Parts: sequence; structure tokens; C-alpha cells
Amino acid sequence: MLVLGIETSCDESGVALYESTTHTITHRLYSQVAMHAQYGGVVPELASRDHIHRLLPLLQELLAAEGYRRHSIDAVAYTAGPGLIGALMVGTAFGRSLALGLGVPAVAVHHLEGHLLAPMLEEPHPEFPFIALLVSGGHTLLVDVQGVGRYTLLGESLDDAAGEAFDKSAKLLGLGYPGGPKIAAAAAMGSRERWHFPRPMIDRPGLDFSFSGLKTYTLNTWQQSRQSETDRHDVAAAFEAAVVDTLAIKCRRAMEQSGYTQLVIAGGVSANQALRQRLHCEAEKGGFRLFYPRLEFCTDNGAMIAYAGYCRLAAGERADLSFTPRPRWPLAELHL
Ligand code: KG4
Ligand code: ZN
Repeated sequence: MLVLGIETSCDESGVALYESTTHTITHRLYSQVAMHAQYGGVVPELASRDHIHRLLPLLQELLAAEGYRRHSIDAVAYTAGPGLIGALMVGTAFGRSLALGLGVPAVAVHHLEGHLLAPMLEEPHPEFPFIALLVSGGHTLLVDVQGVGRYTLLGESLDDAAGEAFDKSAKLLGLGYPGGPKIAAAAAMGSRERWHFPRPMIDRPGLDFSFSGLKTYTLNTWQQSRQSETDRHDVAAAFEAAVVDTLAIKCRRAMEQSGYTQLVIAGGVSANQALRQRLHCEAEKGGFRLFYPRLEFCTDNGAMIAYAGYCRLAAGERADLSFTPRPRWPLAELHL
């Protein structure tokens, strides 16, 4: 089965083709980062308009490059939420209309399920059940993943998501948008020893997170410094170390509580090298295995949507013509 995946929940237009018989994936991505960077963050209206421009040319380019014709597509999977409503409407309308025109089934995919299942596109990939740390611009979740559509929420951020904290702190430090990669690059040149930022909520039981206080800590430390390049790098390093440490401590706790032997990290922040290195150390000490998607499938992309869509199509799921996008859509509401 050849499944087309379409992702437009935020500021990346992604299309992908997943061939289930051979388990192969090809994709194209257009990132709107440069357009939004001049405003210091994503402008929802501009995002929607740009998705309209990009989707069809991206799809045509992908089909031509892979030697497929439009009629080769057996099913269409599109991100139906959560995300920016206008952006979701573009992908939903595009995907649903294409499926109708081709006379093939369509399936509405939950964006976070896409992120959670993205490591399944790698070799070796995890086997169910596993614990997943989903860290993106909009979410920070620890999830017990028993199978496709079988998710138990173990913990989440009570305020800012981890990626959001990276983005906001980067802005405060004058590092620009998107903040994650900029902080990581600055931190690599800084010292983690000079300042010690708090590790929020680690002394409380449970698996919830809170990252909004770190942004205030970043601001105060930065304002009280001489604001030199060295100061900027050192604040970035102290901030990154605090986020990585906090995430690692909660992952260790989730692994101990569940008794599982596999940890998956996914979402934009899982691209962070300091986080990956730290979790590799935790995995070695704790006797569990660590999995993550290739770098290009950590941040938003069409491939994860094509694959998650395939899993649901294979289980017989179909989206009817009246399906509307859901800007808010709790992961726990999913089932198969
Ligand atoms: O998954 P994603 O592309 O979009 C959402 O679903 O939100 O995640 C984007 C987030 C942004 O906040 C970005 O700053 C963060 O992922 N990010 C990173 C890195 N690369 C992207 N954060 C830390 N380190 C990185 N290398
Ligand atoms: Zn995402």
C-alpha cells in the first residue's frame, strides 16, 4: 500500500510516501522558518497562506522524483490536529479533496501520534511497549505506549513545553528563532559550570514538568551579567543543562516505575545532542535501550504522518467527509 502523508500543523509543509510492502519512506519538506524568523515566532495567518502555496508543488516534485503518478497513491493521511487551526485546515482540505478525487480512503492523523511512531521508521526500531518522552514546541509528555492508539499519559508540562522554553529563552538572549538549535549552538561554546539553574519539580513525586520558571531565571541571569558573547554562551549552557537534566531525571523515574526496557524520545527537542548524550548515559546505567528518529524526522515532517496513517488504515480506520480539524486534541482520547 502506498500512503501519502501530509503535515501542515505549524510552520513546516511536509509530504511523504510510505510504501508498506517494502517499509520504505521518501519525503519532501518546506520549512517556513526564514519567513517567521523576521517576526520572532510563527505568524499563524502567514503559515496557512504559505502551506497553500507549497503543498501541490511539493507533492508533484516528490511523485516525479520517485517515478510515481498521482494514481499510484492508495490512501491519504493528513494531520488533523493538534496545531494551528488555519494551518490544519489547509492540510485537511487538501488531503481530503485529493482522496476524494482519486477515489481512495483518507485518514485523519493526530500529530503527536506521528511523533511517537516516528522511531518505527528506523532500524533497529523499538517494540511495544515502551516509554516515550515527547518533547516539541507545543508539548512535553511522558507516555506509556502499549501499542498504536494505546497511550497512557504519565506526566506533562504544567506550563511551557520544553521547546517553547528553548524558543523563549533564545529570544531573551537575542539568539533568534527557532530557539532550540540556536541555544544548542551557543551552549556548545559556553561553560555549564559558571551558573547553576534550578531543576524544576525534581524533588516532587510524579512525572510532571514545569519550564516557565527557567525562562525567568535566564532573563535575570542575563540582565545581571555584562551581556558579553561569553555571558550569552554561558547562560545558554546553564539553561540547556537544566532542561536536559530535568528531562533525564524524569525519564529515569518513568523507566524505573514502569520496569520497561525501552525509552523513545521524539519531537523537535529530541534533536538536541546534549539530551541524546545524557540519555545514552542513563540508558547504560539503567540497563534500558534508547531510540530516537533520524534528525530530519525529529522536527515536523510528512513521513511520520504517512506512517501513523498507514498503521490506522491497516486497522481499518477511515476519515469520513465531515471530519473537521481539531486544534486541541488530547492524545489520551485516541484509540484504535
Ligand atoms: O516537533 P516540532 O518540530 O514542532 C512541534 O510539534 O512543536 O518541534 C519544534 C521545537 C521548537 O521549539 C524548537 O526550538 C525545538 O523543537 N528544537 C530543538 C532543537 N531542534 C528543534 N530544541 C533543542 N535542541 C535542538 N537541537
Ligand atoms: Zn511537532
